[in-house]
Amino acid sequence: MIKTWIAANWKLNKTPRETDTFFTEWSVLSKNLVKDSKKTGVIFFPPATSLETTSRFASALAHTEAFSFGSQNCYTEASGAFTGEVSATVVKDMGGEFILIGHSERRTIFNERDGLLAQKLQFVQKSGLCPMFCVGETLIEREGNKTAEVLIRQIHEGLSLRVPGAHLAMAYEPVWAIGTGKVASLEQVAETHALIQSELVKMDLAATPILYGGSVKADNAGPLSKIPNVNGFLVGGASLDPKSFAQIVAAAQ
Ligand code: PGA
Repeated sequence: MIKTWIAANWKLNKTPRETDTFFTEWSVLSKNLVKDSKKTGVIFFPPATSLETTSRFASALAHTEAFSFGSQNCYTEASGAFTGEVSATVVKDMGGEFILIGHSERRTIFNERDGLLAQKLQFVQKSGLCPMFCVGETLIEREGNKTAEVLIRQIHEGLSLRVPGAHLAMAYEPVWAIGTGKVASLEQVAETHALIQSELVKMDLAATPILYGGSVKADNAGPLSKIPNVNGFLVGGASLDPKSFAQIVAAAQ
């Protein structure tokens, strides 16, 4: 059985104080929210400046066994002269378990290419953390019938340096559905997740969870979660409010 993960990607939102307010409310809302922590887990990806606050709440809520966290990015080295970067080793030291790699905003705004992402993914796995590796096509690529080609390239290049047997999670996020309110149709999600799963099978990675991301809300989480090969969600905008995120966690189980 592949575990279902509901992940919150806060992007560059929330101060440490706002993070504290969120988790104070979350502590109440999350009671009995996850029905079976062996089957479902919740992950928070706060901005780097809120990792410390998140780590404090993660220890306080450890009894729920359904609270994990990590950073939205990291570098390919643990430390050194790399101004502005985040260290996976430090994230691990704080109790973090996951690192997002290759989010489309990192690929497009910060120009991160497949080769660099492969190195980051390898470093995260070598550090004992779980990379959540994001792939997705743009609208032009989808309309040009290039979705499969783009995803296969991103998957094979991004995973080319993977560590055999190490932790791995995937997220499919069609770029045109991120923050736009446009959700991929159930058919598009089913077809694309099946494609990703079949590529993972070829690489002996059949047990990898594949999350869907792109305008996930409480009202579409239920139908999307019933699609085969959809093992949870990576949620941006709707994860910023504790109530709406709690509704998504409830709907996804
Ligand atoms: P969204 O973002 O839910 O706001 O579309 C998803 C993401 O970018 O991870």
